[in-house]
Amino acid sequence: MGLTTALGFAKLGHSVVGVDVDIEKIKNLISGKLPFFEPGLELELTNSLDSGKISFSSSLESSAPGATVFFVCVPTPQKRNGSANLEFVRDACRQITLQANPGSVVVIKSTVPVGTGREISEMMQREDVHFASNPEFLREGSALQDFTAPDRVVVGSDKPEIGQIVLDLYESIDCPKILTSVNSAELIKYASNAYLATRLSFVNDLTAFCEKAGADIADVVHGMGLDSRIGKMFLQPGPGWGGSCFPKDTRALIAAAEESGISLGIVKAAIDSNEATFSRIVNRMSDLIEGEIEGKIIAVWGIAFKANTDDVRDSPALEIVKRLLSKGCRVVAFDPAAKIPDWPGLEQASTAASSVIDADALLILTEWSEFSRENPQTVAEVMKGTVVFDTRRILSVEKWSLFFDKFTFLGAR
Ligand code: UGA
Repeated sequence: MGLTTALGFAKLGHSVVGVDVDIEKIKNLISGKLPFFEPGLELELTNSLDSGKISFSSSLESSAPGATVFFVCVPTPQKRNGSANLEFVRDACRQITLQANPGSVVVIKSTVPVGTGREISEMMQREDVHFASNPEFLREGSALQDFTAPDRVVVGSDKPEIGQIVLDLYESIDCPKILTSVNSAELIKYASNAYLATRLSFVNDLTAFCEKAGADIADVVHGMGLDSRIGKMFLQPGPGWGGSCFPKDTRALIAAAEESGISLGIVKAAIDSNEATFSRIVNRMSDLIEGEIEGKIIAVWGIAFKANTDDVRDSPALEIVKRLLSKGCRVVAFDPAAKIPDWPGLEQASTAASSVIDADALLILTEWSEFSRENPQTVAEVMKGTVVFDTRRILSVEKWSLFFDKFTFLGAR
């Protein structure tokens, strides 16, 4: 998020300095190397370095003097009780307070619970330095595009003229831009993520019902999505939702609301439903495999929490693999970008084609488009079993069911 924001503002023509305490990361960025995989970002990094619009530093002290706006993009990981750990945000703001020029604005982009901004602006104890909130809505895998063509820009500030300074940075972007209080801006972020996660849990629960009822979830969500009040985005069923944001943000929202005596039952139910989805996938796999699942070899395509990222944080694929391993399966996994963890019983294959050799079943967990280009005949020739279970519905039913009598996809009987 930090790097995309930095490169996004550089692309809009602003002069940006990206600061990080990790010296190695900064060295790599200076030489044009990305510390992670994100489509389009490396090219943007090269362009911005060439145009001189971006530079990187591990020293806030040397970069702060010329800055008029500071964006805080540090992580807010989950604490044991589900609430957000604000230690990095507080630290970053404390350091900025020591360096910031009078009149500059500190903007929190990190996802923080409602009330954090106000608490931090009091902590800063600098009347000449202003404060604003500007939550991010970037998705991994399409982060740069989401920055340059967002659905909206939200800026929270208790002083409208300060909020306007931040909004003006996005002047060349054509989208709705709203100015709210700091509290409202902070809550818009959590509410959006929690709503999207809840919507997906609803779809995944409905998917299970479709399988029993003999309906096809693809047709059901298509029909639902045509209602403009519902909309067609974010209705794709899958093996559960994950990533670095939804699991952490839903829990943090619940924890924050509980502190105010409010129980967000619907968000709690969405989390429970998601856990149930992981188990449901494993049970369906178990049913598809004849006899005992223990000792079976399962090839898994996709470990990242979704396609076009190498991120495995809270990946549904790993949750499902964990459950398969605990049932005594051997799992051979392939992912085009993500690193497969070093777990007993979990092997890493170097290609999708080699992962299926001698496998009793194939399970697709991430929707990488390249999986849809694999040849079912070649796969069938090297596999031992005939079970293929596609939880992302990316394989062609017509082609694959020719070679696999137990070809199954999520959301239909
Ligand atoms: C999410 C939000 O979509 C962003 O707006 C937000 O900025 C970001 O969190 C954040 O808080 O930083 P991201 O975590 O990158 O973005 O991933 P999503 O594209 O939202 O996907 C989340 C999970 O939902 C994935 O596991 C994905 O496979 C699943 N999903 C998504 C579905 O199962 N079906 C869908 O139709 C969409």
